[in-house]
Amino acid sequence: PGGGPGRARSAEITNVAHRGASAYAPENTIAAFRLAASQHADVFETDVQETKDHALVLIHDTTLGRTTNVEDVYPKRSPWKVSDFTLAEIRRLDAGSWFGTKYKGERIPTLDQALDDMRDRGIGLLLEIKSPDLYPGIEERVAAALRRSPSWLRSDPAERRLAVQSFDWASVRRFHAVLPDVPVGLLGTPKAADLPELASYADQINPTFGDVTASYVTDVHAARMDLLTWTVNDAGDMKEAARLGVDGIITNEPDVLRRVLDEA
Ligand code: G3P
Ligand code: CA
Repeated sequence: PGGGPGRARSAEITNVAHRGASAYAPENTIAAFRLAASQHADVFETDVQETKDHALVLIHDTTLGRTTNVEDVYPKRSPWKVSDFTLAEIRRLDAGSWFGTKYKGERIPTLDQALDDMRDRGIGLLLEIKSPDLYPGIEERVAAALRRSPSWLRSDPAERRLAVQSFDWASVRRFHAVLPDVPVGLLGTPKAADLPELASYADQINPTFGDVTASYVTDVHAARMDLLTWTVNDAGDMKEAARLGVDGIITNEPDVLRRVLDEA
């Protein structure tokens, strides 16, 4: 592995804002990413998918219904898959009003837009390739977007500037083959026995909090990888995650996590 965000050589726990500061602003919008930075998250996490015309957009669900007004704007196009809409169509959608009137007019961002907007805000990026089976070739297009924004690539790994993760480990491998200098993470909980082999390309193992034990953390570290856990919103759970020795905590409430880490 080429090193990576928050690797075990750092004693500090990385504060990762899940879909941005998504407890307080509509997930996966520029507003949520900026708020994460102002709440002193170290990193913001977001999900990348592709439009019909292969633009890279940041949204969690593979359909547009939950987090936009797509049902009003395009009532006849159920089930409103991301991949059935062009970027121009998606840019017409309101991705903020569902969360609160204050956020009316927020748009689904493109990856390029987020890379550009967040570049100088002192925050890193944990980019999840979401459902890559729906988007053959997405790894190359994500790599191309990152190359268009070289300041995200040009940094000391200790700065925890950028990592790419997915639940689809084959996709993570494909991405790693294209851009080997970017640290990569595997979402899920691989068997401890498989960790040494996975460490041939992976830098992070990122399990759900319920799966994390002190001995699993030790196993991940023994394989020279980091462990970031999700999605931890309760202050007591944050303290417990810290006690178990995790390297990063992914939370909807980076302000709460910042307080917990500062008090520790
Ligand atoms: O970063 C971890 C987390 O984002 C994985 O789950 O469903 O929120 O993308 P999900
Ligand atoms: Ca995610």
